[in-house]
Amino acid sequence: MCMAWGRGLRPGVVPGAMAAERALAMATCTAPVNIAVIKYWGKRDTDLILPINSSLSVTLHQDQLKTTTTAAASRDFTEDRLWLNGAEVDVGHPRVQACLREVRRLARKRRGGSEDTATLSLLSYKVHVASENNFPTAAGLASSAAGYACLVSALARLYGVEDELSEVARRGSGSACRSMWGGFVQWQRGERSDGTDSLAHQVAPETHWPELRVLVLVVSGKKKPVASTAGMQTSVETSPLLKHRAEVVVPERLAQMIRHIRERDFEGFGQLTMQDSNQFHATCLDTFPPIFYLNDLSRHIIALAHRYNTHHGHTKVAYTFDAGPNAVIFTLADTVDEFVEVVRCSFPPATNGDQFVRGLPVGSAALPQELMAAVVTEPVPGAVQYILHTKPGPGPQLVDDPSQHLLGADGLPRRHA
Ligand code: DP6
Repeated sequence: MCMAWGRGLRPGVVPGAMAAERALAMATCTAPVNIAVIKYWGKRDTDLILPINSSLSVTLHQDQLKTTTTAAASRDFTEDRLWLNGAEVDVGHPRVQACLREVRRLARKRRGGSEDTATLSLLSYKVHVASENNFPTAAGLASSAAGYACLVSALARLYGVEDELSEVARRGSGSACRSMWGGFVQWQRGERSDGTDSLAHQVAPETHWPELRVLVLVVSGKKKPVASTAGMQTSVETSPLLKHRAEVVVPERLAQMIRHIRERDFEGFGQLTMQDSNQFHATCLDTFPPIFYLNDLSRHIIALAHRYNTHHGHTKVAYTFDAGPNAVIFTLADTVDEFVEVVRCSFPPATNGDQFVRGLPVGSAALPQELMAAVVTEPVPGAVQYILHTKPGPGPQLVDDPSQHLLGADGLPRRHA
């Protein structure tokens, strides 16, 4: 539990006294991004965010991609307020409100009957929340998943809630429930209409497959053309392929994918990852009017990955794309140096040559002549902005160091947009 008692907010208040007299309670958490290898696309209940199919993802390491959120409560706050990356935004968004309401409900339930006046008064206070990403928002890097997972984690810490929280994070954004766990995570669609069995759980921890690596090929910092929330509902209403996918294809693929992960079988894992990404984008094309998240560059990357695998005679890299053109490549540690060089030669960096590769270190590799000839065809200079090298990582973390809080002792963001 991370509580900081702000000094100076109410002169004369003794820090650590009963909550009714406390000036400021504060908690900070971080949460990860996840990338689905069996995609979630379509809801059966848009209010409770209940999916039409189960999904499975890999949680990415927070050293490279994370959201940090501070939640504070004080009797001096006059309204709930929210800041994203230093800029104040509307706290009245129904999904933010749903998360706030649900965490508070769990806190009340937990204290139910007991005379814990500290939490009860905390619950009557307004909250201030500040959240920051260390990566571009809405660039197709699942920022809403990390954002809502972090909001729910920080609020839960603030109120001392230790329950299963994926059900609450799901109310912020479907994919956010998977960011409540590290490693390999399944979101079970559930059967009940109240959503109490639509939860995420860990299939294997991040330490399970130490050689697994992730390369994010960032091709665009722009906002998505069609937000996934709107896009997936049009798919539910119009795509017969999506219905078949949810009823027949996904249940089989989930069982296969879990087996490949348990056996650390990259051939099986990689092939199924690519096939499921392709089917997701096929359902987007099958949607009427159609939705296009892939562009010429994404198709270029897809072809490159297949040429590379064909050249080696087996699956060494696997791509997956969400609702945006950035590519996420899964590979194994022994392939990273060579494949990064293939990407560098295929998309020669325009200006930022020295920052082209970020994140975990990448060694140099000389590409054999026959690999160059077979794989690197028609280079497109400048098309890939940069490559982020990362790996599977843990779930949400508590930040203990008070100097890391995003809100100051006055309850306002320390950093402004
Ligand atoms: C393509 O979780 O962003 O990334 O539940 O409406 O917030 P909402 O949608 P969201 O959809 C993610 C879709 C996806 C696939 C996936 O992550 O499984």
